[in-house]
Amino acid sequence: MSGAAPGPGGAAALAARQLSGSWTGTHTVPAAGLYPHQWSWDSAFIAVGLRHVAPDRAMTELETLLAAQWADGRVPQIVYDLARDDDYSPGAQFWRSRDLPGSPAAATAGFVQPPVHAWAALLVHRAAPELSRARGFLAGAYPRLVAWHEYLRTRRDRGGAGLAAVVHPWESGTDNSPLWDEALARVPDTPRTAIRRPDLAHAGPGERPGAKEYARYYWLAERYRDHRCDDRDQGHPFVLEDPAFNALWARSELALAEMAGELRADPRPHLDRAGEIGGSLERLWDEELGLYVAHDVVADRPARRATVNGLVPLVLPDLPRARTLVETLRGPGFLGAGAVLVPSYDLRAPDADRALYWRGPAWFNMTWLVIDGLRRHGETALAAHLTGPFVDLAVRGGFPEYVDPVDGEPHGTRHFSWTAALTLDLAAGGGAGARADR
Ligand code: SER
Repeated sequence: MSGAAPGPGGAAALAARQLSGSWTGTHTVPAAGLYPHQWSWDSAFIAVGLRHVAPDRAMTELETLLAAQWADGRVPQIVYDLARDDDYSPGAQFWRSRDLPGSPAAATAGFVQPPVHAWAALLVHRAAPELSRARGFLAGAYPRLVAWHEYLRTRRDRGGAGLAAVVHPWESGTDNSPLWDEALARVPDTPRTAIRRPDLAHAGPGERPGAKEYARYYWLAERYRDHRCDDRDQGHPFVLEDPAFNALWARSELALAEMAGELRADPRPHLDRAGEIGGSLERLWDEELGLYVAHDVVADRPARRATVNGLVPLVLPDLPRARTLVETLRGPGFLGAGAVLVPSYDLRAPDADRALYWRGPAWFNMTWLVIDGLRRHGETALAAHLTGPFVDLAVRGGFPEYVDPVDGEPHGTRHFSWTAALTLDLAAGGGAGARADR
């Protein structure tokens, strides 16, 4: 796409058309070529955008995902479309989820992704409360979302500090973030499964994780699968607490409190839980870097890298560190490096790469979360400063998966659904953190 950027109305229309093209009847594929199934946190972001133009589809999107919930409460990273099983790897044949007790009828991955779903469900409900009540959307979603959060609390607090741990980089949603490097280095690179890379047909090798990383991703996925996706496996070598994952959990817990209020249930347990997670998050604060970092539970030490994951806690309303996070965001590693959207990694780092997946490029969902946080903490001018380039670069790049944060060059796949959905959200005027959404 080239030429003058369309106004917000034009951008919204283009984004809506993009999303319609990726709708399957039950869910939206993140990208028709690269990601042909349903992905967990993608669906949540997609629903946030869809609510403006098709709230019925936004509800169906989340209902389809929640219908694939496991008996233990986990909401899976991927719900497979078996007709497309050869088009993405690892696929349903790798996981064989239906052989495991407590798995749903749908074939899924055993992993999870960041818990942004309750927040998304609340926004969808608010966009169309009458439709939502008529179809019992909240009443159906709430108990499943409560069970999802209970899974995180009871099965994933592997460090015993009140934070949920991820057991694979894919679970963080920020696959090859430098946060995972050190822990991933102790994972063997000798999987038994033959590695297929259909992803490389849709994005350049310089824009995707490398062969060495994939070998370790597969080994770790095999280990988790071969232990029947049982989180009590004490020998699992990769267990990390991610600040973004946990901040989204706390933000979603606040959304559950509001849902409980709507449903005449007691919101207080959710408010208490959000406060507890927020309190535990302080353990991840890094004074010197001026943001939150991950904690490696196995090695019991912090993963001290300055990434966008460490800025995401801005989405929490009572965050004591908000001022410092805004300073870090404005500082030389992020926007101060000449970035127009939020880089995924400190651009001063010697291994930062502005084209490579989660090691430098700006991602639209992360920038959307930061915009939400800035508005929440009264930084409306800086939020607006990011919103303009967001919509412009999304449309000009054909809704790219991610962009060079400085010159805006599109990277990864195109026609990426959450880029379109969150563009629609910002262009529709409500937007992340806007008062109308609360
Ligand atoms: N993001 C992963 C991939 O690149 C899957 O969740 O395939």
